[in-house]
Amino acid sequence: MYQDEKIKQICDKIYYMAKKKKSFVQICKDLELKDYEVAGLITMMHQQGYNIEYVNGEIIVMKTPPKHNDVYELPYNLEHLKLLLISDTHLASKYDRLDILKYLYDKAEKNGVKHILHSGDFTDGRSNRPEQVYELREPSYEGQVEYCVEKYPTFSGKTYVIQGNHDDWWYKSAGSEIVKSIAQQRDDIEYLGADVADMKIGNLKIRLFHGSGGSAYAKSYKLQKYLDSIPLAERPDILQTGHIHQSFYMKQDNTHCFQTSCLEDQTPYCRGKGLANDKSCWWVDVDFDDKGNIYNISPELETFGDKKMSLRRKK
Ligand SMILES: [Fe+2]
Repeated sequence: MYQDEKIKQICDKIYYMAKKKKSFVQICKDLELKDYEVAGLITMMHQQGYNIEYVNGEIIVMKTPPKHNDVYELPYNLEHLKLLLISDTHLASKYDRLDILKYLYDKAEKNGVKHILHSGDFTDGRSNRPEQVYELREPSYEGQVEYCVEKYPTFSGKTYVIQGNHDDWWYKSAGSEIVKSIAQQRDDIEYLGADVADMKIGNLKIRLFHGSGGSAYAKSYKLQKYLDSIPLAERPDILQTGHIHQSFYMKQDNTHCFQTSCLEDQTPYCRGKGLANDKSCWWVDVDFDDKGNIYNISPELETFGDKKMSLRRKK
């Protein structure tokens, strides 16, 4: 991340002291640095994804990743668009299913899909539940970043992804948005933000949302409740949600809602809690008229079992 190891060490010290609630003035004094040097280093750390910021002479250490209302826009002028919707890959868990991911990216490549949308929990993260360590291939932040950068399938299109609650755990413990760090090292992965993001492909409005909290009595409940919270005029054409690890589709007014399940086998923790773990994805075809307006969106669910899939690709 840093070219100069010495700078990295100073940044680590600043971060440690800021988390211990030392004042900006005291940190400058302790490190025998000028105020503009410390402020500059904090600004650099913030730009690199750390949850630390220098504001009006004070150091702020944020507890949740920043959210914004930007819309990520992509031009599109063809009559037909194919999308693949996936979620909750929980990579670096011993129960992740890279074999399914590789199969899907191969299939996307063959079918001319250039846009893959991922609605969060890209990594399994690191929870404050000590037993989770037994479910992880890689328990460290650096290990999970490297695992994803190296092993996540590549293709000629792009994957657009938000962070989920498992990814966000790293924000609290390591002070960094892990999916942002991964995307910085992969040209084919675009990080859109934490928990929620809006994007537009041509005239097609899409919202990605992860969500939090436990499961509901009915699997449609959270999706319905979230859709109802969006003012009618602002509703997207496609709403894709994650978190629940169950798939569900409904159309309400002009919004096609896709609850996207996971691509991870059931963990011992989930089995013990009786939490569902459907493995599936949505293939979506969108048709535009000659003015670029949407006139048809058709979904197709593909499901997967526990049996490992044969791999034909090296990465
Ligand atoms: Fe998840």
